[in-house]
Order: sequence, then structure tokens, then C-alpha cells
Amino acid sequence: MGPQNFTFAADPVPQSYGNIIMKPEGAKPVIFSHWVHRLRYTCRVCHFELQINFKAGTTGITMEDNVEGKYCGACHNGKTAFGIEHCSRCHNGGVGPGKKEFAKKTGGLPPAIHGNGIDWNQAMEENLIKPVDYLITKPDKFQFDRALTLKAAWDYVPSAVFPHKAHNRWLDCNNCHPDIFDIKNRTEKQNRMESYFKGEFCGVCHGKVAFPLKDCGRCHLGMGNWR
Ligand code: HEC
Ligand code: HEC
Ligand code: HEC
Ligand code: HEC
Ligand code: HEC
Ligand code: HEC
Repeated sequence: MGPQNFTFAADPVPQSYGNIIMKPEGAKPVIFSHWVHRLRYTCRVCHFELQINFKAGTTGITMEDNVEGKYCGACHNGKTAFGIEHCSRCHNGGVGPGKKEFAKKTGGLPPAIHGNGIDWNQAMEENLIKPVDYLITKPDKFQFDRALTLKAAWDYVPSAVFPHKAHNRWLDCNNCHPDIFDIKNRTEKQNRMESYFKGEFCGVCHGKVAFPLKDCGRCHLGMGNWR
């Protein structure tokens, strides 16, 4: 096994990292900004309670769903957030909030090198943001703070860490177990960067919404980050 070649695309601008463009038929494109929403809600609200998938374009959201109070409509009802009658605020042609609005809403949060340029983990740890953890039922939160060292397959690669605590603040156990990580069926594939670059295992979130894979040293403690 020889050294892997890592090649990365240039970083998007910080305010567009984690933005999803949806292109419905018969209406202008819709932009969904993760950073706008994660300032106020944890992932589990949408990806557990509201059953939205971790892969763009696969949930099958329709306007009928929204009007019935599902998906976007669970909040965009004129009470929690602007109502569904404000068509063009969502169907805006695919333009997300700009640099100014981003700076206004996220100014003062601890910096990171890549992604949104925000260290969301630290922001949460220091209570600088307090995203709501549920819409419907207060979760009977199961504490599981075990930090795992995922043993490196290569001698000269510092082992990667997996802190449950940093994840359980945002996510439900069911978001990862057993669909992404089946602890009864561990595979060799789950220990390969190659899998993550393809959007599997850690790469389901890291590189899409959570900090990108370029930040090597946040997982492999002691390794430098890619600039
Ligand atoms: C307010 C709702 C909401 C919140 C909060 C939210 N998401 Fe999402 N997420 C969505 C929607 C909507 C999609 C698109 C789903 C679709 O198109 O089927 C999505 C898609 C994704 C995707 C797929 C991205 C892609 O490019 O394929 C990932 C990964 C993801 N979310 C992770 C997260 C993580 C991690 C968090 C918490 C830090 C989070 N989401 C918080 C609504 C949300
Ligand atoms: C869990 C509640 C919740 C869900 C689900 C949700 N939103 Fe929002 N959304 C909000 C709130 C609250 C705001 C206002 C945030 C602010 O202005 O600070 C907002 C703001 C927005 C904005 C204005 C900011 C921007 O990005 O330009 C858009 C557009 C938007 N949401 C689109 C969507 C779409 C599309 C969906 C579904 C795919 C969705 N939202 C699902 C709560 C939600
Ligand atoms: C809170 C955000 C939001 C608002 C407000 C909103 N939409 Fe949508 N709309 C969506 C999303 C998300 C989709 C599905 C996108 C996709 O294809 O993945 C969608 C899809 C559609 C579609 C495609 C067909 C269908 O039924 O799914 C039409 C047409 C549509 N919207 C019209 C409207 C009109 C007209 C209004 C105002 C009365 C409106 N929308 C308001 C988010 C919104
Ligand atoms: C989101 C966390 C995360 C990030 C970021 C990350 N890695 Fe990894 N990496 C892992 C995990 C988990 C493994 C498997 C267990 C192990 O080898 O410690 C791994 C394995 C590896 C391996 C050995 C096995 C293989 O074939 O993939 C190398 C080499 C590696 N990483 C290099 C890097 C480099 C270089 C970067 C930055 C460009 C990076 N990693 C970024 C989590 C990460
Ligand atoms: C972000 C994804 C994620 C979330 C959320 C998550 N886990 Fe895990 N969990 C992992 C990973 C990755 C491993 C290591 C997998 C492996 O070694 O095969 C793991 C391993 C475990 C293990 C085996 C521990 C060991 O020492 O081998 C248990 C038990 C577990 N998780 C329980 C939980 C519980 C309970 C929750 C919720 C409170 C939870 N997990 C939330 C990703 C997650
Ligand atoms: C379901 C989504 C998801 C998956 C899968 C996932 N993570 Fe994360 N991870 C997050 C989110 C969200 C955060 C909070 C920080 C952020 O959003 O950038 C986080 C934070 C972390 C942190 C804390 C970093 C710090 O700044 O202290 C580490 C380390 C980490 N993840 C490693 C991993 C590794 C290794 C894997 C795979 C074994 C993995 N994660 C899988 C969503 C995920």
C-alpha cells in the first residue's frame, strides 16, 4: 500500500459551505442554508424528528408536504419562521445569504480554517450558540460520552479520534447507528479515507456540513491541516 494522493477542490466561500440548491419542476430553484439553520437548531431536529435524509435530493420534499406541515413546513408556518406564502424567500433562484448577512449572524464565533470558517464544536462547547434540540418531543437524552481512538491502519499516521460527546450535542444515536456505523458489522472500508471522500461513513457529514476532510488534524490529533 503506497501513500495516497489527496487532491482537493478549492474552498467555496464560507457562507456557501453546506448550502443545498434544490431545483423543483415548475418553480424557481430553492436554496437551503445549513449555517442559517444550525445556528438555531441541532441536526437531530431535521434529520431525526422531521425525517430528512443525509443526502441532498433524496427526501422527496414537495410543496404539498410543506403545506401539510412536514419538512420545511414544520417551521415555515408563519409562527416559528416566515410562512409558506412567502414563495420567493425560498424560491429565490438559488442565491443564498451574502457575505454581509453571514458576518452579521456569525460574527464573534470561533474561527476554523475551512468550511464555514467557524469552529462549530467550540461554539457549542462554550455556549456561544444554543440551538434548539427538538420541535415535538423533548428527547430523553441518553448520555454516551465515550471517546474512541480509531486505530490507524498505517504506522506513521496518527490514529483518528471519535468523540461521542461532540457528536451527541448535535445528533441522535439513531442518526449514525446502525445505518452509517453498524457496530455489529465493522468493515475494513470504514477505516479508509477513500470511503470518506466518496461521502461514506465520516464523509456523510464531514466535507458536506460538518468541518471538511481538509482539517486532518481535528481527527488525526497531531497531524497538520491542509491549507
Ligand atoms: C432546519 C433543518 C435542518 C437542519 C437543522 C440540519 N439539516 Fe442537514 N439537511 C436539511 C435538508 C432540507 C437537506 C436536504 C435533504 C434533501 O434534499 O433530501 C439536508 C441535507 C444534509 C446533508 C446532505 C448534504 C449533501 O450535499 O448531500 C447532510 C450531510 C446534512 N444535511 C447534515 C446535517 C448536519 C451534520 C446538521 C447539523 C450540524 C444538519 N444537517 C442540520 C435540513 C437540515
Ligand atoms: C426546524 C425549523 C425549520 C425548518 C425545518 C426549516 N426552516 Fe428555514 N428557517 C427557520 C428559521 C427560524 C429561520 C429564520 C432564521 C433567521 O432569519 O435568523 C429560517 C430561515 C430560512 C430562510 C431565510 C434565510 C436564508 O437562508 O436565506 C430560508 C430561505 C429558509 N429558511 C428555507 C428553508 C427551506 C427551503 C426549508 C426546507 C427544506 C427550511 N427552511 C426548513 C426554521 C426552519
Ligand atoms: C420554506 C420554503 C418554501 C416556501 C416558502 C415555498 N416553497 Fe415551494 N418548494 C420548496 C421546496 C423545498 C420544494 C421542493 C424542492 C425540490 O424539488 O427538492 C418546493 C417545490 C415547489 C414546487 C414544485 C412542485 C411541488 O409541488 O413540489 C412548486 C410549483 C412550488 N414549490 C411553488 C411554491 C409556491 C407557489 C409558493 C408560495 C405560495 C412556495 N412554493 C413557497 C420550498 C418552499
Ligand atoms: C473527519 C475525521 C477525519 C479527517 C478530517 C481526516 N481523517 Fe484520515 N482517517 C480518519 C479515520 C476515522 C481513519 C481510519 C482510522 C485510522 O486510520 O485512524 C482515517 C485514516 C487515514 C489514513 C490511513 C488509512 C487510509 O487508507 O485511509 C490516512 C493516510 C489518513 N487518514 C490521512 C488523512 C489526511 C492526510 C487527512 C487530511 C487531508 C485526513 N486523513 C483527514 C478520519 C479523518
Ligand atoms: C456521528 C455518528 C455517531 C453518533 C451520533 C453516535 N455514535 Fe456511537 N459510534 C460511532 C462510531 C464512528 C463508532 C465506532 C464504530 C466502530 O468502531 O465500528 C461508534 C461506536 C459506538 C459504540 C461501541 C463503542 C466501543 O467502545 O466499541 C457504542 C456502544 C455506541 N457507539 C453507542 C452510541 C450511543 C448510545 C449513541 C447516542 C447517545 C451514539 N453511539 C451516537 C458514531 C456515532
Ligand atoms: C452524521 C454526521 C457526522 C458523522 C457521520 C461524523 N461526524 Fe464528526 N462531527 C459532526 C458534527 C456536526 C460535528 C460538530 C463540528 C462541525 O460541525 O464542524 C462533528 C465534530 C467532530 C469532531 C470534533 C472536532 C473538534 O473540533 O474538536 C471530530 C474529531 C469528529 N467530528 C470526527 C469524526 C470522525 C472520525 C467520524 C467518523 C468515524 C465522524 N466525525 C463522523 C458530524 C458528523
